[in-house]
Amino acid sequence: MNRHPDSRLIVYDGQNCCGKTTQFHLSSKYIYDKDRKYNVLLTREPTFGKYGLQIRQVLASGKDPFSVRDECFDLFVKDRFDHIDNHILPALEKGYIVLCDRYMYSTLSFQGAQGVGFEKMIQAHEGVLVPDLVLLFDLPIEIANERRRKRGELIKVTENEKIQPAVAENYRKMQSLLPNHPIKVIDATHSIEKIFEEVRNELNKVLPY
Ligand code: TMP
Repeated sequence: MNRHPDSRLIVYDGQNCCGKTTQFHLSSKYIYDKDRKYNVLLTREPTFGKYGLQIRQVLASGKDPFSVRDECFDLFVKDRFDHIDNHILPALEKGYIVLCDRYMYSTLSFQGAQGVGFEKMIQAHEGVLVPDLVLLFDLPIEIANERRRKRGELIKVTENEKIQPAVAENYRKMQSLLPNHPIKVIDATHSIEKIFEEVRNELNKVLPY
């Protein structure tokens, strides 16, 4: 695979309700408008491919997160490599700026909280495509929970309160777990505008134009 020199892979990740999706959309508009040379691909994990659909069934099952640990881990990793091979890499070959909502940092945090070892998870990601920028949105659990209550959505297996504190803690370990990944932690307690100022600064450091 020959990556186009102007392509970029930028990941948005963090615990549920951390505000990453809002920043993801603001970023896409910013990049698209910044220069007419940019084509932007927005994509997400879990995907809606073969493995992603199986994951969504498990997430909606209401099962105990510890009882579906291995199933979740296996499916998320398979879904990721399928996503990379069939969607992300072909877009990077064409020179797209690919924005990805969640990536391997979600697996390390959520499946880590479900009890899978970090070493095993890092090994399973050997050969993974390392992004050009990873934005991790950090928010206290209490604020994230308040947002979720307001949204009133179905509680997924991965939103279970038994694992939530460990998920947030695992995200905070990410820079030391993956020192070779270009991870930038963003304080998500600020206003949307202020957070986006920081996001825009980080984008400008990696965008080609
Ligand atoms: P979302 O699409 O609403 O973000 O929901 C996906 C859920 O799946 C979310 O709770 C995070 C979780 N997840 C994992 O547990 N591991 C992973 O590798 C990914 C990508 C997501």
